[in-house]
Amino acid sequence: MNSTITGIGTYVPEKIVSNSYFEKIVDTNEEWILKRTGIKERRAVNNETTVEMARLAALNLINRYNKDLSDVDYIIFASTTAEHKIPSLASQLQYQLGIKNAGTIDIVAACAGFIYGIIQAQSLISIGFCKKVLVVASEVLTRYTDYTDRTTCILFGDAASVALVEPSLNCKIYKPVFGTEGEHGYAVYLSEFADKLNSKSIKNTNKIVQDGKKVFKWAVERMSEKFIDLLKLNDLHANTIDFFIPHSANLRIIEAICSNVNFDKSKTLNSVTQYGNTSSVTIPLALDLGIKNGMVKTGNKLLLIGFGGGLTYAGTILDWEI
Ligand code: UT7
Repeated sequence: MNSTITGIGTYVPEKIVSNSYFEKIVDTNEEWILKRTGIKERRAVNNETTVEMARLAALNLINRYNKDLSDVDYIIFASTTAEHKIPSLASQLQYQLGIKNAGTIDIVAACAGFIYGIIQAQSLISIGFCKKVLVVASEVLTRYTDYTDRTTCILFGDAASVALVEPSLNCKIYKPVFGTEGEHGYAVYLSEFADKLNSKSIKNTNKIVQDGKKVFKWAVERMSEKFIDLLKLNDLHANTIDFFIPHSANLRIIEAICSNVNFDKSKTLNSVTQYGNTSSVTIPLALDLGIKNGMVKTGNKLLLIGFGGGLTYAGTILDWEI
């Protein structure tokens, strides 16, 4: 049984944080931020929690697509910002949305989390175990941002997105690529209880620490390879792809991948310009922007690749049917 996304919903907090704000707290300037990252602004929560933002994103989906979520049979929740270790974010959301009964699981795959979720949803449906899977991404990254570090504090924002995955007769989620290079784990980490990671000393601050240059180089190199691998695996040519939606960490990463694989960058969607790096949420957020501005249309083929902390990545292609 094939499946695809049959509804999407997003939520972004009201509070806008402009580039000029950072001039007041660290040694930076608006021009540097825009030129080196492509970010114009990002959002920050007031009191919303990770699960509350997800709930509001789910309500957005229900209202837009007239979907009943009460019979969702599985919730996969991607996040790195859970307020509680137990219970899971997915089980809190099941209760809050009044879903009668569902399997619930959280996944931590950093910025690749949403795509890992989509791959798992597709697998559960294709085996026949599930009929309606809710894939959720929600992040309150501003809570874990070190506002004394100019190399990271300018990047992150808060947002949530949900996607419903259901069986489809005409559309499908194609064969995925995924992989991990755990030896580079220290390149992006968020640690609270340990001084060492893979036997290397780390900052135990409960804030995001990143070797931006290393991740940048790795992302461009590996995602360019994986873009080509995904097409080969599915016997598709790049000219059949209507939109490429990579993780929105930095506009220059997206441009460099397009240049490496000779893909027209005007056929990419990003959310980084408007919302900064929202980790697992960037891909569905970019897709939603594309839907709202009329670019993404029924019958489009979308190529999605997430990458980040792990270091891990996951990509797939899907037919857009709504
Ligand atoms: O989502 C998870 C995965 N994460 C990523 O994909 C992030 C990938 N990395 C990046 O997006 C970029 O590496 C950053 C945006 C983090 C940094 O941009 P960059 O162009 O790679 O800068 P850089 O690290 O090469 O630094 C260039 C210069 C340095 O100064 P010196 O040593 O040349 O004097 C930095 O100290 O820019 C300086 N710099 C800044 N200057 C003004 C770094 N951050 C800032 C800043 N404002 N905010």
